[in-house]
Amino acid sequence: MKLTETQKKFVEDLLGKMTLEEKVGQLNQDSPSIVGGFDVPFEELIEMVTDGRISQEEFGKIMATAERDYHEDDIRAGMVGSVMGNDPVKANELQRIAVEESRLGIPLLMGFDVIHGLRSVFPIAIAEAGSFDDDLMERTARMAAKESRAYGINWNFAPMLDVARDSRWGRVSEGPGEDPYLASKFARAKIKGLQNSTDSTENYVAACTKHYIAYSACEAGRDYNTTTMSTSQLYNVYLPPFRAAMEEGACSAMASFNDLNGVPCTVNSYTLRDILKGELGLEGFVVSDANAIRECVVHGIAEDDVDAGIQALNAGLDMDMGTRIFYDHIAQAVKDGKVSMETLDDAVRRILSVKVWLGLFENPYVDQSAIDAYAKALPENHVALCQEAAEKSIVLLKNQDNILPLNKENKFTLVGELADRPDEVVGAWSLAWQKDDCVSIKAGLENVGAKFEYYPVCGPEGELNIEELKSAIDSDSEIVVAVVGEYTSMSGEASSKADITIPGHQREMLKKLVAAGKKVVAVLMNGRPLALGWEAEKLNAIIEGWHLGIQMGNAISKVLFGEINPSGKLSSTFSSVNGQEPMYYNHPNTGRPGTKSKFTSKYLDAPIEPCFPFGYGLSYTTFEYSDLKLTENKDEIIASFILKNTGDVAGTEVAQLYMQDVAASLVRPVKELKGYERVTLAAGQSKEVKLTLRKCDMGFYNNQGKYVCEDGLFRIYVGGNSCDVLDGEVRVAF
Ligand code: BGC
Repeated sequence: MKLTETQKKFVEDLLGKMTLEEKVGQLNQDSPSIVGGFDVPFEELIEMVTDGRISQEEFGKIMATAERDYHEDDIRAGMVGSVMGNDPVKANELQRIAVEESRLGIPLLMGFDVIHGLRSVFPIAIAEAGSFDDDLMERTARMAAKESRAYGINWNFAPMLDVARDSRWGRVSEGPGEDPYLASKFARAKIKGLQNSTDSTENYVAACTKHYIAYSACEAGRDYNTTTMSTSQLYNVYLPPFRAAMEEGACSAMASFNDLNGVPCTVNSYTLRDILKGELGLEGFVVSDANAIRECVVHGIAEDDVDAGIQALNAGLDMDMGTRIFYDHIAQAVKDGKVSMETLDDAVRRILSVKVWLGLFENPYVDQSAIDAYAKALPENHVALCQEAAEKSIVLLKNQDNILPLNKENKFTLVGELADRPDEVVGAWSLAWQKDDCVSIKAGLENVGAKFEYYPVCGPEGELNIEELKSAIDSDSEIVVAVVGEYTSMSGEASSKADITIPGHQREMLKKLVAAGKKVVAVLMNGRPLALGWEAEKLNAIIEGWHLGIQMGNAISKVLFGEINPSGKLSSTFSSVNGQEPMYYNHPNTGRPGTKSKFTSKYLDAPIEPCFPFGYGLSYTTFEYSDLKLTENKDEIIASFILKNTGDVAGTEVAQLYMQDVAASLVRPVKELKGYERVTLAAGQSKEVKLTLRKCDMGFYNNQGKYVCEDGLFRIYVGGNSCDVLDGEVRVAF
């Protein structure tokens, strides 16, 4: 985000005209309050849907007709800086009040969670990161930005950049996986796509990187839980994607719910002022997470709302999401000298700067033509991009005796309730999908004329239907395609799990099918890496389908029949059993790495190896790596090697480069991803691939938060995943 001198002057002039109250108003983000249309208090209604007294669908219906208070009078009085929502007509109405009826005519930021697409729902982030396709990640963000603007949204609460190593945490689905390098590439692509559209100013939004910081390191994978870590870990693992996003000019950040080393991130001046705004150079502003300022009282860091609000603003948190604590108390706090005018002005300046950068003062409204573009069916290019993203995110985990691809002429049996759930393809944090856009796996199979019998048998919850299971077993087809996994509601916020094996009776169903002599191909729909020890051993094939978005069914059926050769890789390690979590490939070494011998770092009752490692994914062809050569120039190490497609169909391989700093002043990870490239090869073709490692990227942050490059020996690895690699060594003097 860069402002011209004229834009900066505009902001200063405006700031000069504002009253104390109007300044405070800019720091206030309002959500429309639900004020009635049902017989119980709103909080009770939320409880009712949570404990199952009413269904999601009933809740949706009540919400659609509930009365809302949009706080128009506050907008008119200049007391609202931002509103949450995704209704373009309402957005225009509210903007008109802000622009035409408030004293200074300052437009609103319209914020919304557009995490992996709005109406065009793309794969969840953990899946899309596994495409290792930066260009794709940028294009999906650009399309999400364009759609957002048409829905009246100019500020997206994305990208979510939490590097996540514990699959019990439900929010692993929302982010780019466990690796800081991949997450940083994802961050850059998303900021470019969301913020730098080349089409027109109407097609971009302000990004909001979240959740800052270390939210994903919550103890035991339990959402909102406390986090404790060294400075070097913070800097080397959790900060890199935020640093990358800031380098690309991200407009804003959302402070996370957790405390870090005892200080909630909402009131943490070290992480907000010193690191984010200081070192990382955020020029825009920081918003709290929902109600998080008030939660500082519950954390036990503030005595009351007033105290929490003052601490937050002084720590560098600029906008209050959800509590109105700034609205209620900051003007008085300034009068009392508890917050300086300089601090308040800094926050307001940052928010106004984003509004100016977005062009909202010239162009606050959504054009009718943009609204009309989404009034009917989704435009074809949107559907096509959803499909491309879904196809590239699929990971083939197992393919015993090349059972896949299936022959379309042969009949098979399809089981699993999830196969026929178009509403379950979208994944967590999809808030504007339309059922008619969604293609279930069953529909995708029907679309290509596949021959199958379908028996739901069971889903992630509920009983096993014995009759249907019996029919599936009795059917004369030897191959069973079993769609199993998690409901969308089982990942995302507040969805941590202690058991990450395939839930409900689904494993039992698979066991019975295997026992009956069926060849079972599992297609997984899930929002987190699952513990797949049993499935990896016993099933014939496994396709990791994640929640791939609205085109999931078409993408999966293309892979099943070999029209698409899968090329996705895992952006996170998969465990075999629950107790292995947190499990990640780039862990530090111990003095006693796990081996067969007794006194080593391992479990007595579980393997030390992952079920499937980071970077892993098969293809319908095979690739061979050979002839690794390392050459060095002044600034780089170049790893060149021969990659050969040794099978008989064309395929795309994600070639990966890893590094290990063999001896350093701090214990370093056993491997760190440092580069990758998608390489497409015809059957039998070989190619020399060169992956470059910049020497300036071979260092690490020490416990003073200082980046150091230390001379010495480095191991360099190349391969198709983080385990199966060629290796070489190079001694580097920086
Ligand atoms: C989530 C954020 C989200 C916000 C607004 C919070 O509960 O943690 O990720 O952006 O709500 O919807």
